[in-house]
Amino acid sequence: MSHSVKRDFPVWNIRRLLEPGPIVLVSSAWKRETNIMTMGWHTVMEFQPSLVGCIISNANYSFEMIRKSRACVINVPTADMAATVVRIGNSSGRDIDKFAEFELTAVRAQRVQAPLISECYANLECRLADASWIRKYNFFVFEVVKAHVATSPDVPTTIHYRGDGEFLIAGKTTRRYRRLFRPALLDS
Ligand SMILES: Cc1cc2nc3c(=O)[nH]c(=O)nc-3n(C[C@H](O)[C@H](O)[C@H](O)COP(=O)(O)O)c2cc1C
Repeated sequence: MSHSVKRDFPVWNIRRLLEPGPIVLVSSAWKRETNIMTMGWHTVMEFQPSLVGCIISNANYSFEMIRKSRACVINVPTADMAATVVRIGNSSGRDIDKFAEFELTAVRAQRVQAPLISECYANLECRLADASWIRKYNFFVFEVVKAHVATSPDVPTTIHYRGDGEFLIAGKTTRRYRRLFRPALLDS
């Protein structure tokens, strides 16, 4: 397939091309409060240690909870939770208790204070590994110190945000090109 016919595209909106990761729910705890925010801007940074970078706006209530507690849980929801994912992103823990409001089940984590969201497909317990870009970019570098993943299905139906209210729902997977990979790359 050729893509030679192109149009000029506004650089501020290239997010629509580069946001492939699943939308996640970030749960946090500080003092006696818990909270949840929706997050699309995250990136894997390293396998060992397992590092994930995230943009958490300093306008969010979660920002100080996560900065002070130096921890969070990254929860991976599936398409059946899409409406809740949007509602969580449209509200603030300043005003409501999101676990109660959205009838989500908080489960005690093993390595951090922040609770796991039981309804999600996967829960990644994270500790803040590098705070040096928080002030400049609201960029948190976390180390995943414990991961809980549902035993089925093998490939979850994750939702991916393309901006402008549009989600891409995970679909087909293929191993057709696996033989083209260098063996060393398959280990990672
Ligand atoms: C689809 C979607 C993706 C979002 N991605 C991010 C993100 O990557 N970083 C961020 O700071 N806020 C993001 N938000 C906004 C927060 O989820 C939102 O501000 C949330 O209400 C903050 O909650 P809090 O004040 O309780 O922390 C996103 C919202 C939606 C709906």
